[in-house]
Amino acid sequence: MEAIFSKIDDAQTTAELEEIRILVMGKKGSLTAKFAELKTCDGESKKTLAKELNTLKMRFEKALADKKEALSLKELEAKLSAEKIDVSLFSPSNLKGANHPVMLMLDRIVEYFVGMNFALKMGPLIEDDFHNFEALNLPKYHPARDMQDTFYFKDGKLLRTHTSPVQIRTMESQKPPIRMICPGNVFRCDYDLTHTPMFHQVEGLVVESGKDSVSFAHLKFILEDFLKYMFGDVKVRFRSSFFPFTEPSAEVDMSCIFCQGKGCRVCSHTGWLEVLGCGVVDENVFRAVGYENVSGYAFGLGVERFAMLAYSVPDLRAFFESDLRILEQFK
Ligand code: PHE
Repeated sequence: MEAIFSKIDDAQTTAELEEIRILVMGKKGSLTAKFAELKTCDGESKKTLAKELNTLKMRFEKALADKKEALSLKELEAKLSAEKIDVSLFSPSNLKGANHPVMLMLDRIVEYFVGMNFALKMGPLIEDDFHNFEALNLPKYHPARDMQDTFYFKDGKLLRTHTSPVQIRTMESQKPPIRMICPGNVFRCDYDLTHTPMFHQVEGLVVESGKDSVSFAHLKFILEDFLKYMFGDVKVRFRSSFFPFTEPSAEVDMSCIFCQGKGCRVCSHTGWLEVLGCGVVDENVFRAVGYENVSGYAFGLGVERFAMLAYSVPDLRAFFESDLRILEQFK
């Protein structure tokens, strides 16, 4: 048996130790066999042998455990030094990161509005009913709530369906004049060729004291200027529409940048691309935040839609599949 202890001493790897353990304590191990012999003795001799064997077993297990700890440490050190990365080595592959196209587009949009003196505002992704709907003139059971399929939490909170609640939060926290944009994620229970459950919007809000200070003309100027900044020499038209939080409301189209308005597949042969929602802020919205004698305009746009148009990406899902062959083109 003493030979076994010197074998443990000499072992070079934890694998070798395991072999020794099996040799001694495994099903057919030498010590296991000795324990089996116990059955054949009785009385005092059984007692003495049992004591002897148990002492031996404990000594063996301790020797094994001690050696194992020492070897594991050595093996870990060897592994760590073998895996050490030399950061000064030349790398043959050009693994440079790049901005995601949606973020590139977001940056461009923000750049324009910041240049026009709009302040950047942020709001929570998890919203309450008041900020996402109620204060935006969308009372419970209002049919316009169906325009946006909402993800609800059990406690009645929800994932914001648009960036418009940040209008409310901004007006709650400061007095006019307000000139803000809010970029951010929004969520809708929707998934098909042109819709994903998460996408990005940029919201804009301008409010000033006085009933006639801000008009649709101001809104029209800024959005036309913005679209020309983004897409060059496009025609812009405002189409009457409906949003509960603006009155009057409009959807903004620009002439199709793929066919210059002649009509193609992208613009469904209309010559126009719908790119924005906007309007003059509804009186009920001001009432909800306790504003009086003010006027303002608001607008909202989908960043993915802008990116698809500006970068000629035909399928929205390309933005969310993380295919490097596509993303690499935006370096
Ligand atoms: N919140 C609207 C949407 O998500 C967009 C919008 C914002 C329209 C502001 C008008 C004014 O569709």
